[in-house]
Amino acid sequence: MTLFKSLFAATALVASLVAGTAHADYPERTITMVVPFAAGGPTDTVARLVAESMSKDLGQQVIVENVGGAGGTLGAGRVASADADGYTILLHHIGMATSATLYRKLAYDPLNAFDYVGLVTDVPMTIVSRKDLEPTDLKGLIDYAKANKDTVTVANAGIGAASHLCGMLFMSAIETPLVTVPYKGTGPAMTDLLGGQVDIMCDQTTNTTKQIQGGTIKAFAVTSPERLKIFPDLPTAVEGGLKDFNVGIWHGVYVPKGTPADATAKLTAALQKSLKDENVVARFAELGTVPSPESDATPEALKAKLESEIARWKPVIEAAGQYAD
Ligand code: MLT
Repeated sequence: MTLFKSLFAATALVASLVAGTAHADYPERTITMVVPFAAGGPTDTVARLVAESMSKDLGQQVIVENVGGAGGTLGAGRVASADADGYTILLHHIGMATSATLYRKLAYDPLNAFDYVGLVTDVPMTIVSRKDLEPTDLKGLIDYAKANKDTVTVANAGIGAASHLCGMLFMSAIETPLVTVPYKGTGPAMTDLLGGQVDIMCDQTTNTTKQIQGGTIKAFAVTSPERLKIFPDLPTAVEGGLKDFNVGIWHGVYVPKGTPADATAKLTAALQKSLKDENVVARFAELGTVPSPESDATPEALKAKLESEIARWKPVIEAAGQYAD
């Protein structure tokens, strides 16, 4: 019996040591942060600022990999099927919630394919146009869109993107369907807006601030409840006549389901530190947003946010009748 007990104890000890050391020194190599949109857009901008700061705390490089397409669902699917070892993580936004309804054949279950690291930031949107579009205020833009509904083009980053959601809400609010032009991200969409190849876009301040300040695009409204400090003269969409038009683009960091808890905990701690990094705070402020508070940069807060947002947007999307398939 003694021999059996000591063999059992030894086996249990080895098992616990192997399990423990599997992540005791985590991270031991580069971590990939997947951004499910093209480089140069708002999600990419947020991700690169956070990834650079997290690298400092983790002692390993957190490198951004852009996996665009299908409104963010290709990149999310890449992470859902990645090894659950803590070395592949995802930074995604509200699209994780809206895609749950928009895509009836998703390759992953948004509520069961991921574990949660924490919320990152909630970014306001701006309704903008190419700089030579005629209207000079939101009412004029609405009238112009209605009068030219078969020719006005609205850029977005694909069904499921934040720009798609905002565009869909705008079209519903003015009761006028417009021609939409999808891109792999609003980084490339901005290039066409600047070049005059597309007319209108609703996009996050993390992508439009510099162009608005430089006068290379025209801004009509912000979608936040209050005006932004960086654009005190830019009315809110509600002031401009779009009733209850408040849209904030929250972002979160996820890992594949089953990632070891100690690895996820280290990622959460590094995320929380990055959101207090003075460079991150300053750059976010310049781009019209603020980091999530530490109480929101937690797995529990992100899980609750995702669940509530899936429930919130489901009826809105069903009422608009827009699906990806
Ligand atoms: C979106 O519309 O979801 C984002 O702006 C896409 C992006 O980050 O490029």
